[in-house]
Parts: sequence; structure tokens; C-alpha cells
Amino acid sequence: MSTDLEVRFKNIYPGKYFLSFSKEDLNTYLKFRSWLPGEEVIDGIEKAGESNMNCVLRVRTNERSFIIKQARPWVEKYPQIDAPVERNAVETRYLGLMGEDVELKIQTPELIGSDTDNFILVINDLGGEPFSFLYEHNSKLTGEDCKSMMAYISRLHQLKPVNFPENMAMRVLNHEHIFHFPFIEDNGFKLDDIQSGLEGISWIYKRDKVLKQKIESLGKLYLGEGKALIHGDYYPGSWLKTELGFRVIDPEFSHIGHPEFDLGIMIAHLLMTGHSEEIIPAMSRYSSEQAVDNELIAGFAGTEILRRLLGVAQLPLKLNLENKKALLDQASDWILSGMIRHE
Ligand SMILES: Nc1ncnc2c1ncn2[C@@H]1O[C@H](COP(=O)(O)OP(=O)(O)O)[C@@H](O)[C@H]1O
Ligand SMILES: [Mg+2]
Repeated sequence: MSTDLEVRFKNIYPGKYFLSFSKEDLNTYLKFRSWLPGEEVIDGIEKAGESNMNCVLRVRTNERSFIIKQARPWVEKYPQIDAPVERNAVETRYLGLMGEDVELKIQTPELIGSDTDNFILVINDLGGEPFSFLYEHNSKLTGEDCKSMMAYISRLHQLKPVNFPENMAMRVLNHEHIFHFPFIEDNGFKLDDIQSGLEGISWIYKRDKVLKQKIESLGKLYLGEGKALIHGDYYPGSWLKTELGFRVIDPEFSHIGHPEFDLGIMIAHLLMTGHSEEIIPAMSRYSSEQAVDNELIAGFAGTEILRRLLGVAQLPLKLNLENKKALLDQASDWILSGMIRHE
């Protein structure tokens, strides 16, 4: 981290602890918090994996390994972009709730420690790797993974915690990149740099007034009041394939919202990773107390596909222009028809 960013951090939040890669610094901090008891000492520190927004480290000690995560007031991958630090308190609350549920606790990291003053949390190391490999390889979710993916989200949507934080600053950030920015005609984002010819194709969707109106009203719903606790980022980057099975991490976008949002995001990524055949069987496993609105699911799913192909949060998809055009057409059909259907 460059010095000017350190200065910036200290200016905004004077006296806050700044996670460092130095063993000595981290050792002092962890001992002070009593998270490294007795004779336990740090053997090594490494980046936990590909992280987007936060500083996420794996700490190896003489006894175990664990994950320490800090939400800084910027996006770790793009430090020039500000990011709300309240996400740390949201993630902490969510993980605490998971720990109280007999089933969800098995599929979520355990909260070992929390220091919300410094926007830090410590969770157990689940090992494994995120399911992001689905984008690059021709690999598939197993039947067991699909079952766990649906069991988790079904159970989560039945929780009705009181006073769960609104998480509005994170929702506003997400709203911008899902429902707004990708559809602005002159947003300055050079799609031809991603793939030659993508810019030309994008005009079809960016100039479709009816489509854009639908997306705008879906965006309003996203920011509005909801009825259940949702994960808020239920896609392969938040799913871990571990030796013990399918696990779920990174609930920093969670809020009381629309279950259809989680389901739509999940379906969008199933389609983009070549799981179109698995969508209907997966959805048949979804069980919730309240009925879900299929039109809303189709709308959120379609919007997620459009924004992943046309917006800044690109995925490592190995698709040619023709494949992308087919996905974009299917996505806008889902939004306009309000149905998940195949040509
Ligand atoms: N509890 C955990 N067990 C194992 N690996 C983890 C755990 N939490 C995070 N990771 C790894 O660190 C990466 C970044 O963590 P994540 O919570 O997604 O941070 P960010 O929100 O900054 O992307 C994950 O993709 C994963 O590889
Ligand atoms: Mg994240």
C-alpha cells in the first residue's frame, strides 16, 4: 500500500489500526486482541486469495491458520474508488447470525473475533477455492454442490433478524454498477478494449428504452424495502469448494431485501457458466415460507447478465462475440418477458 494511501486512511480515521503484512505488526495486534493466545506465534502471512474490496490475509501460526479481513475506506483492487467501511459491521452481524443457526453455521465461516472500530474481522480458514474457476474451465457444479447451494439460500431467506443494518451505502454502490452505469450510452467505459466489437453490440441494449425502464424499476426495488435477509452477492466468487463441501463467504452486501435478488444473481451465473440445464432443477429445490415472484427473478437475472457483459465488473469468461450476443439477447428477453426461458 502506498504511503499516500496510508496517510489518507489516517486522515479519514485517525488512530485506526492498518492491517500490515509484517509478522511483527500483526503479531502485536493479535496478541493485544487476545486472538493469539499463549505460545501461539505467526509462522507466515499471505494473501488469502483474489479479493476485490478488502484486505484479506491468511495467517498461519504454529497451531492453525485463519483469515483476517479489513474493510478499508476504499476498494482494495481500485484504491482510487471509495468504499463504505460499514460493510465490516454488516459482515460481522451476518456471520454472527449464521453461527446461531444449526444448519447455516456449517456452510459459513465461524466468526473468531471482531474489531468493528478498526473494521477488522477474524474468521476460520475453510481452505478450498472459490467457484470462480467455473468461468474459465469447462467444469461443472456437482449435483451435491447444487443441492448445498439451494439448501443454503432457502434456509437463509427464512431468517427474519430484527435491526439488521440497512447497508444502504453498499447497496447504493452496487446499484450504480448493476442498474445504472452499464446502461449509460457515453459512460466512457471502452468495451472494445474488453473485446473488439462489443461496443457496437452494446448499443442495441443501451438504446432500448423499454428495457432500460424495466431495469430502472428493478433498481428501485433493489434499493427499497425487502422481506428477508439476503446474502447480496450470491455468485461463484462467494462460493467456496472445500474438501468438506460447498461453503459461502463474503456477505458484505447482505441486507433485508428481496430473495429474488439472490436467486436472480445465482441463475445469471449458472447461465453464464454453461449450467442452463441445471437452472430449473436447482430452482425446484428452493423452498421458502413466502412465494417468490418469478418475474422479479427473471428481471434481476437478466440485468446481472447484461451488467457483467457490459459493465466494469467483468468476469473471466471465455466467450466469443457471438456467444456474448446470444447471452445478451437471452438476458433482455428474460427482463422484457419476465420469464426465465430458453429459445
Ligand atoms: N474463510 C475463508 N476460508 C478460506 N478462504 C477464504 C475465506 N475467506 C476468504 N477467503 C479467500 O479470500 C478471498 C477474498 O475474500 P472475500 O471475502 O471474497 O473478500 P473480498 O470481499 O475483498 O473479495 C476469497 O476469494 C477466498 O479465496
Ligand atoms: Mg467482497
